[in-house]
Amino acid sequence: MNNLNFINLSKASLCESEEILSGLKDKKQKKINSKFFYDKEGSRLFDKITKLDDYYPTRKELEILESKKEFFKNLLPEKASIIEFGSGSNIKIKKLLKAMKSPKHYIPIDISHEFLLFNAENIAKNFPYMSVKAVCADYKQINLLKEIINQNENIVGFFPGSTIGNYNPEEAKMLLINFSKIIGAENFLIIGVDLRKEKDVMEKAYNDSEGITAEFNKNILNGVNRICGSIFDSKLFSHKAFFNDKKSRIEMHLVSKKKQIVKILNTEIYFREGETIHTENSYKYTISSFKNLVELSNFEIVDVLKDNKSFFGVFIMRVKSI
Ligand code: AVJ
Repeated sequence: MNNLNFINLSKASLCESEEILSGLKDKKQKKINSKFFYDKEGSRLFDKITKLDDYYPTRKELEILESKKEFFKNLLPEKASIIEFGSGSNIKIKKLLKAMKSPKHYIPIDISHEFLLFNAENIAKNFPYMSVKAVCADYKQINLLKEIINQNENIVGFFPGSTIGNYNPEEAKMLLINFSKIIGAENFLIIGVDLRKEKDVMEKAYNDSEGITAEFNKNILNGVNRICGSIFDSKLFSHKAFFNDKKSRIEMHLVSKKKQIVKILNTEIYFREGETIHTENSYKYTISSFKNLVELSNFEIVDVLKDNKSFFGVFIMRVKSI
């Protein structure tokens, strides 16, 4: 394909195992960062989650993107460059690209080499008149990214899937500020945010009746074993997910079924029966709590698109002019 370009900016991360170990040594609460969910099997399981009846976010977000095509067409500039921060499955970006007037460049940024190439090739094939520049990088490396983005073009950033929910409010604010620097003044960011709702609905989405989320949660230990050479037995842990009302977030944990010791990088980690490893936070915002967050970053909100039940919000924001 001659409209596809590949750039590798990923820094081989030598210290993943150190990072995991230090989280597991935390005396207050053992933890593993949720970015470690997405190995090959984890990505496959996550894809399965997005198709579950109980997991509403993907379905609702797609519904919004599909029903607001005209809105996007009228609002967004023509011949724009679209930057996608972390490109998972490409159904969502396809909907956006189809709605837009002659998009010129598509720049997906993702840390996973394999998924990035697979998706970028598919988009390049489907949109032969658009150039695709796939960038293998962590979307938080702003200095590297700034160099490959031409801010003289009209830019539209896209950050779907409520991935912002994985960051605590302070980190989320920093991330938005970084995005604003990459996107540039007066350009757009379209961001998907899961909204706070009835507790039962949220908890069911992370405790699905088919047990896929439980499998997804336990699979993080297989990735940890591969990275650290440890021998966690995922059968000795059970899945737990609940809504923490005070912090307005779903928390996922792995609960040790019994007292056990796991050796990792020459360190012995002790588990009491019932002790947990915290594996994920998924913050849920109200329209106004997200607006408050945005006000602390360099953006202003242009519009908020919701589904008919207000389960999910797609925020259209614009980088303030300096
Ligand atoms: C991809 C981070 C948005 O928090 O809902 C799904 C990941 N975890 N089920 C989410 C996830 C458990 C998902 N995000």
